[in-house]
Amino acid sequence: MPDFDASTTDRVLSPRLNSQAREDFAQAVRIGLSKRQRELPSMYLYDDLGTALFEAITLLPEYGLTRADERLLRRYARAILEHLPPGVMVAELGSGGGRKTRWLLDALAHREPVVYFPIDISAAALAKCRQELSGLGAVSLVGLETSYLEGLCDVTARRRPGQTLLVLFLGSTVGNFDRPAAEEFLREIRRCLSPGDALLLGTDLEKTVAEMVLAYDDPVGVTAAFNLNLLARINRELEGNFVLGQFRHEVRYHERERRIEMHLRSERTQTVSIRAADLTCTLHAGETMWTEACHKFHLGEIPAMAQRTGFVCQAQWVDGEWAFAENLWVADPAAATMP
Ligand code: AVI
Repeated sequence: MPDFDASTTDRVLSPRLNSQAREDFAQAVRIGLSKRQRELPSMYLYDDLGTALFEAITLLPEYGLTRADERLLRRYARAILEHLPPGVMVAELGSGGGRKTRWLLDALAHREPVVYFPIDISAAALAKCRQELSGLGAVSLVGLETSYLEGLCDVTARRRPGQTLLVLFLGSTVGNFDRPAAEEFLREIRRCLSPGDALLLGTDLEKTVAEMVLAYDDPVGVTAAFNLNLLARINRELEGNFVLGQFRHEVRYHERERRIEMHLRSERTQTVSIRAADLTCTLHAGETMWTEACHKFHLGEIPAMAQRTGFVCQAQWVDGEWAFAENLWVADPAAATMP
């Protein structure tokens, strides 16, 4: 599947990436396009324009995921916090705009002073988060502009004796990893934590195939634009020559893997070159490039996932309008020495 790192590295309508980041992007494109099922790495969907298009996706009536996530946090913030002892510090992997998190921070701030560490590789995302949460007086925000795991290590190093760390990984971002990679990432999170620390994990649940496909193939075409923007980005930043009008957004549901796949289908046989990747390739009529995977979950599989990755699933809250769950996992002392 396309690599997913959930972190975008740049301010992207700005044409120039730093040279290492550009080389990484070029290499990821080169490797992806050389596979039999051609792939493009999904992390590069999120440049400034891609991030703005994703924000628009969250407003689509067909895409209920983000609203369900926020509804659950709004409705159950206090119930979630009742599971945690006094003295909680909060870290969030991928700060996003901070809108959903506000409900939880607000509830916690009624109980105790709060330090909140949004972790994001994008300075723009951190700035937006700071702006969104500026009205929450009792919350001190310390933004960490780095990768998730490095940020988490940094947060744990700042922990005072007796404090419990609550890590937020919301929005079903975990579904953008393939399943083995997701579990490895959750294990990595566990390795950063102490027994009793908690992880609040947002997961999108399975629905009818028609509902899931529509959520990623909206009639207005916002998701199509989000997908096609990846080709536009390659043209801008890696000197590619994709003709966007000759590619079509395509969404499939893979039953066995229980995932939505986004592809870009070539409408005709065409040769494309990407100068910075030193690559020329011929795409046949009908051939696709796979750009993103969005795995869906059963409520019942989540406690077993917790156990396999060093946690105990303490509670789950499910939205009544859109099948989505918040899962509260606590770091299992018995797994403290997991390899
Ligand atoms: C960010 N992520 C959780 C979204 C999802 O639903 O997997 C990304 C997305 N791609 C197209 N629409 C939304």
